[in-house]
Amino acid sequence: MHKELEQWVSEVAKLTQPQAVYWCDGSQSEYDRLCDEMVERGDLTRLSPDLYPNSFLARSDPGDVARVEHLTFICSEKREDAGPTNNWMAPAEAKAKVRPLFEGAMRGRTMFVVPYIMGPAGSPMSEVGVEITDSPYVVANMRIMTRMGSVALEQLGSDGAFVKGLHSIGDLSPERRFILHFPSEREIWSVGSGYGGNALLGKKCFALRIASNMAREGGWLAEHMLILGLESPDGEVTYMAAAFPSACGKTNLAMLMPPQSQKGWKIWTVGDDIAWMKFGEDGRLYAVNPEAGFFGVAPGTSNRTNPNAMTSLHKDSIFTNVALTDEGGVWWEGMGPAPAHAIDWRGEDWTPASATAAAHPNSRFTAPARQCPGISPLWESPQGVPISAFLFGGRRAKTAPLVFQSFDWNHGVYVGAAVASETTAAAQGQEVGVIRRDPFAMLPFCGYNMGDYFGHWLGLGARSDKLPRIFHVNWFRQSDQGHFLWPGFGENVRVLRWILERCQGGGAAVETPIGYVPAPGALDLAGLERQVPPRALEELLRVDRDDWRAELQSQREFFAKFGDRLPDEIARQTEATARRLGL
Ligand code: GTP
Ligand code: SPV
Ligand code: MN
Repeated sequence: MHKELEQWVSEVAKLTQPQAVYWCDGSQSEYDRLCDEMVERGDLTRLSPDLYPNSFLARSDPGDVARVEHLTFICSEKREDAGPTNNWMAPAEAKAKVRPLFEGAMRGRTMFVVPYIMGPAGSPMSEVGVEITDSPYVVANMRIMTRMGSVALEQLGSDGAFVKGLHSIGDLSPERRFILHFPSEREIWSVGSGYGGNALLGKKCFALRIASNMAREGGWLAEHMLILGLESPDGEVTYMAAAFPSACGKTNLAMLMPPQSQKGWKIWTVGDDIAWMKFGEDGRLYAVNPEAGFFGVAPGTSNRTNPNAMTSLHKDSIFTNVALTDEGGVWWEGMGPAPAHAIDWRGEDWTPASATAAAHPNSRFTAPARQCPGISPLWESPQGVPISAFLFGGRRAKTAPLVFQSFDWNHGVYVGAAVASETTAAAQGQEVGVIRRDPFAMLPFCGYNMGDYFGHWLGLGARSDKLPRIFHVNWFRQSDQGHFLWPGFGENVRVLRWILERCQGGGAAVETPIGYVPAPGALDLAGLERQVPPRALEELLRVDRDDWRAELQSQREFFAKFGDRLPDEIARQTEATARRLGL
């Protein structure tokens, strides 16, 4: 029994007036019962047990299909502590404004108390959260995405600290939708959305926005990063963590399956979205995946691009906003041949002749991580895995080369701070495909002033001489005709191999004004299924002065927003880059 938890639960019950209060134990029978009830009410569709055993389709409200960055707030006491990249409300004002939306919000509904652990159970790196929600869909997803139920209460004990997350779907109206974070109270309030990162509060709200605050205070890192192990033919495994913005390739890289031509190379998946990292006694950074499942982008996922994801989701999974086939299976754009008829994500008849997409571009699968064939034997290791390289990247049709290495730690932090990417469907209420600056792929997820965040990263440089090497990658560079120049997906292992060589002191490189790129012949291109002609490779690695002039201008404008909260070192690195470019 935990006094503070019980008191909070009864306060919330008084405020929200549910018909019943139910404490989740996380058992299979509880999950089965909840899903059965949702099927009965028509909230879930059970898929064909032959095609997708114990799996379900959910359709969200058509106005509630992605994160809502414009309705997401960091409620620090001072506006400057949220910084220029976050929406801010004073805590008292935020509570006064949003509390009424919770008043009686759960009338006629069950209030679920969902205790969960972020990180492996019993790990010194893990943290406990409790989400109170009136959405059984959220409960079912939280059971896949976290270690949920009794195991979390056990870890919490009678006086452990936990992050409070209060969630109600409210009336789903965007006018009454708010995602609030109270960093000093370690508390989250979310109302008006039932979708993904808005509602599964362990994920972006806790494991990034709140945890980034905890990490800064505690001298560790909470990052929007996948974690993978690259095994070489001699059996040695090197771990890397990579930050790409939402829908820019983390899940795909984390589950990469090397092509036949890359004999003996193998990728082990540790995590696909979030990494928590702390220093070990040996001075190295060790990473754990705080999550227990994947909430992956469905469109584009296929047996060709990501067979490991396809196997992970073949059972015990929940699909949100994909199309339903007549056989009781699922389909999305890029999965393979289109069915002659399906029910689209809005619940309407669909055929290949339809003008609209069958699956929403941000449709998702929720699948248990343990079902991934390439899941690392160390994915639940309590002390985590040692990281040798950080990769930053974005979706850039131009400007950013396929890969480059930073000159040193401080330059690497600047490279992370200078990440930009074309926007995707992972966030609602903004145009898709426009370049925006997205430092460390954390723009929507850093729970405090990003100027201070850059300072936190720079500060790590003095703490160890065994820090990971820092690289930047871009799988999305295009020809003038608008075709991807690099085949991507499994072939990305060739770039990882060069990164590995660089970490080991090898790998031929050429120095450019922005960093080291692979020397001619240094990337193994033998046996590529789709040839990359020499001209394309040259373009992939080219640093174009005109593109970089515009790029530096955009960086300067962005960094200027931070005023005196921008570490001098970031401005110095920007100008040093300009000088090296002769700009
Ligand atoms: P979040 O879950 O939103 O954080 O996304 P993510 O970073 O995990 O992105 P994901 O791996 O799901 O990829 C998003 C989209 O990019 C999918 O449609 C992929 O098919 C596509 N994609 C991933 N890797 C590559 C690549 O190497 N090349 C190309 N061309 N597309 C890719
Ligand atoms: C992202 O948008 O980066 C995601 C999906 O991983 S969500 O859970 O909605 O944040
Ligand atoms: Mn993500």
